[in-house]
Amino acid sequence: MGLCGALGLGLLLAAVSGTAAELHTLRYIQTAMTDPGPGQPWFVDVGYVDGELFTHYNSTARRAVPRTEWMAAKADQQYWDRETQIGQGHEQTDHGNLGILQRRYNQTGGSHTAQWMYGCDILEDGTIRGYSQYAYDGRDFIALDKDMKTFTAAVPEAVPTKRKWEEGDVAERWKNYLEETCVEWLRRYVEYGKAELGRRERPQVRVWGKEADGILTLSCRAHGFYPRPIVVSWLKDGAVRAQDAQSGGIVPNGDGTYHTWVTIDAQPGDGDKYQCRVEHASLPQPGLYSWEPPQPNLLPVVAGVAVAIVAIAIVVGVGFIIYRRHAGKKGTGYNIAPDREGGSSSSSTGSNPAI
Ligand SMILES: *[C@@H]1O[C@H](CO)[C@@H](O)[C@H](O)[C@H]1NC(C)=O
Ligand SMILES: *[C@@H]1O[C@H](CO)[C@@H](O)[C@H](O)[C@H]1NC(C)=O
Repeated sequence: MGLCGALGLGLLLAAVSGTAAELHTLRYIQTAMTDPGPGQPWFVDVGYVDGELFTHYNSTARRAVPRTEWMAAKADQQYWDRETQIGQGHEQTDHGNLGILQRRYNQTGGSHTAQWMYGCDILEDGTIRGYSQYAYDGRDFIALDKDMKTFTAAVPEAVPTKRKWEEGDVAERWKNYLEETCVEWLRRYVEYGKAELGRRERPQVRVWGKEADGILTLSCRAHGFYPRPIVVSWLKDGAVRAQDAQSGGIVPNGDGTYHTWVTIDAQPGDGDKYQCRVEHASLPQPGLYSWEPPQPNLLPVVAGVAVAIVAIAIVVGVGFIIYRRHAGKKGTGYNIAPDREGGSSSSSTGSNPAI
């Protein structure tokens, strides 16, 4: 996977993630490399449902294989044979494309990468979105237009491709695939994997602050959540401060969950004006989290007072128990709920703890 990540894919992914909320997504990414590195396949074809890698094909094994347990369990051998054929076809096409692209750019060697990404989304309002786009050496090359009838050439070198594809019925076939077949399969995959894809895991949220060079940097980190979509924002006096905040993106953990973090720079002493808000499908309502700075100067005083209180409590308590025992009654047990989550960081599984 690292090999896909390094190749300008971020741009591609950013380009297709719009504002309307996605309910389900099916995305395929093909990567063809002239110089894949020792032991690495030059061609890799992977599929994601709702951001989960579920199918994998590479030019070394030349077979499509499941990457989730639910695909292994639900898809039969016929399915994998067909996917293998499709993968081999894509491999052959991309081999030719790499050659065409190098000729078109007058390149005689070096390290080059072609990436093709396509897929379909079912949005929350039921509408369907499809896309198909090609990138070369990390830059957009050509993309199927939104109307799915034409292509957009991102660079002059793509104009001959645009012409060729628009003369044929390439766009029409894409439109049919994306609006019909792709969506049908997406629904099927979601059904196959519903136990896993439909699960909800709450983010663990931690807020902390660090002061350096007269700037207080507040960080809000959410981890261990599923599904991937999440909105983490910093509020100052209750208003969202999107322009001042910086996010590290939403990144996968090894265990199928995700994590993300958002930081904001504040004036020292303003820490209590800020709150981190987390919105996620697992939370019935947005969670609000504040930074509770440590109070190191008060600690000895607090500790001293606490020791005194505990000492008094013991004396009083022992006296009370002795009194009760003597009175022939059994004392009722009681618990003091420890509230140790506060202090320099607050951790919670979603709702704002009552103060
Ligand atoms: C290529 O695919 C095979 C399975 O078909 C897999 O075992 C292997 O790890 C893959 N290679 C890479 C580099 O992903
Ligand atoms: C490639 O070379 C041809 C012929 O020398 C030239 O016309 C063309 O502009 C070059 N293309 C690029 C992308 O450099």
